[in-house]
Amino acid sequence: MKIGITTVSNVIEEWTYKDLQDLKEALTEAGAEAKMIYADSLDMELSKSGITPFQSGERAAGASKGRERIDVDGVLLRHLGTIRDYEQFTYRIFCIKAFEELGLPVMNPVLPWLFATDKFGALMRLSAKGIPVPETVVTEHMFVGYSALKRLGPSVVKPLRSAMGFGIFKVDDPDLGMHAFSYLTNMNKPIYVQKFLEKKGSGDYRVVVVGGKVEGAEFRKGITWKSNVAQGAIPKKAKLDEELKELAVKSCEILGLDYAGIDIASTKEGYFVLETNPTLSWQGFRKATGINPAKSIANLILSRAHR
Ligand SMILES: Nc1ncnc2c1ncn2[C@@H]1O[C@H](COP(=O)(O)OP(=O)(O)O)[C@@H](O)[C@H]1O
Ligand SMILES: [Mg+2]
Repeated sequence: MKIGITTVSNVIEEWTYKDLQDLKEALTEAGAEAKMIYADSLDMELSKSGITPFQSGERAAGASKGRERIDVDGVLLRHLGTIRDYEQFTYRIFCIKAFEELGLPVMNPVLPWLFATDKFGALMRLSAKGIPVPETVVTEHMFVGYSALKRLGPSVVKPLRSAMGFGIFKVDDPDLGMHAFSYLTNMNKPIYVQKFLEKKGSGDYRVVVVGGKVEGAEFRKGITWKSNVAQGAIPKKAKLDEELKELAVKSCEILGLDYAGIDIASTKEGYFVLETNPTLSWQGFRKATGINPAKSIANLILSRAHR
């Protein structure tokens, strides 16, 4: 059995690389083979006999071959690479969709992945199903953003598709926020404003769910109000109550995710889901809990892949 893992030719971050290594090892241990699929090197051929996927370029098949047909029994969708154009974006999304059309298990499936990687897409679908999310206003109009800041009080502003706390900032003064919004709208970026939560224990929970079951959880206490490990937070193994477990499992179910890390804040007003991570990096989680989610992820996709 061969499982493709989507990556890009320039994976340089150490943690991303280690996640891929963990997946490769877990697949090998389970008797399968891991095959890198370079999301920025995909070609698709369409004909009477259907879809045939290829990848081209040096990294795809070694410099000597240059182009190869992709023959896999399942796909682990991890990264789609840097995307700079609308057509490039839909092309890469539909390339992954093509593997689903071929009847292969794709984990996470590409459309759930698309919603879950976008902070608005995820929270919009969760709030529609009654999952508690922080009060959030999303707009392309800076005056709507400005009045949201006045109404919500201290707030955080987030890029829709960021990770590791990058680019997220806190706004206490609406007029200062207004200047940031003027920049964002000039860059054609939507504005995502969210009420600042006073988090119990100055951190948040990361609950890792695979195949509808909680694998484990960590509590990440931040050195600032951001509690990402990439921002210096120290992850510790966390015990979860039933409500927290149910929130994480239900969030995955609503979004159609086979596995994810769900970030949840605990406050005086209860729990709030902050975001969902369908391409979670688990290096900090592994250290804190001793659990390697790659094993369950590998076993789950292999259980769905049939030759
Ligand atoms: N509404 C909020 N109130 C207070 N802290 C927040 C809020 N949203 C996010 N944070 C903090 O910022 C960190 C990063 O935010 P998050 O939405 O998880 O984005 P990402 O991890 O993708 O950068 C979280 O771990 C959390 O501690
Ligand atoms: Mg997060």
